[in-house]
Amino acid sequence: METISLDTVESTNLYVKTHIDELSDMTVVHAQKQSNGRGRLQRKWVDLGEGNLFLTFVLKPSNMFSNIYSNLTQYLAVVLCRVLENYGLKPEIKWPNDVLVNGKKIAGILSETVMQGSLFKGLALGIGVNLRADNESVKLVKDKDITALNMEINKDVDTGAFREDLCSYFFSEYNNFLNRGFELIQDDYILRACFLGKEITVKLFNSELKGVAKSITGNGELVLIDKNNKEFVLTIGDIL
Ligand code: BTN
Repeated sequence: METISLDTVESTNLYVKTHIDELSDMTVVHAQKQSNGRGRLQRKWVDLGEGNLFLTFVLKPSNMFSNIYSNLTQYLAVVLCRVLENYGLKPEIKWPNDVLVNGKKIAGILSETVMQGSLFKGLALGIGVNLRADNESVKLVKDKDITALNMEINKDVDTGAFREDLCSYFFSEYNNFLNRGFELIQDDYILRACFLGKEITVKLFNSELKGVAKSITGNGELVLIDKNNKEFVLTIGDIL
């Protein structure tokens, strides 16, 4: 595993997308600061200041896209939960890949497929983890309740040590994951899924869907039953 440490970048995902040809498979790019962090569904990822984690895995598993790659965000969410559990926390996953601690978002994961024309070049699998914040800085994120590791355990954590743990857990089962896909982590994912059995609203592109979250399929999709007992199998969306 190669590591590239940057000071300030617009976004580590953007950096990886722009430099994909020079970067080797399984390189980790991390930065001290992000000036224009990208989030899911066209949102921004706010930089909460020094000591936070902004990291992107450069993944070039093959020359062709495989559906399994869409589940890498869920794999990374499970990996992150395992790391946070080592700090004595009980993280939960909100489908598809938000990680929450005590009901508040502690991290965000964004995978971007890198294409050159019709050629699949690889993936920029980015993760931002709130490791250091305070009651003031969390207010920088307006639309969500967020938390940070230091606020949950009442002490500062070493960003480098956290990053190394995350990367080593990630790569320890990465090849297994490429062979088996979501099925490898299905039990671990479901064990931490806080939304199952609950009444939820899922935001889709231009609409919302209300219902009970029934289960997670072997491909990581969310099965939702609406009030008319109609079943929906969702591959993308955001639980509100
Ligand atoms: C989300 O919306 O929850 C996903 C946020 C992903 C943020 C990370 S920070 C490192 C990497 N670089 C980016 O610009 N975004 C991801």
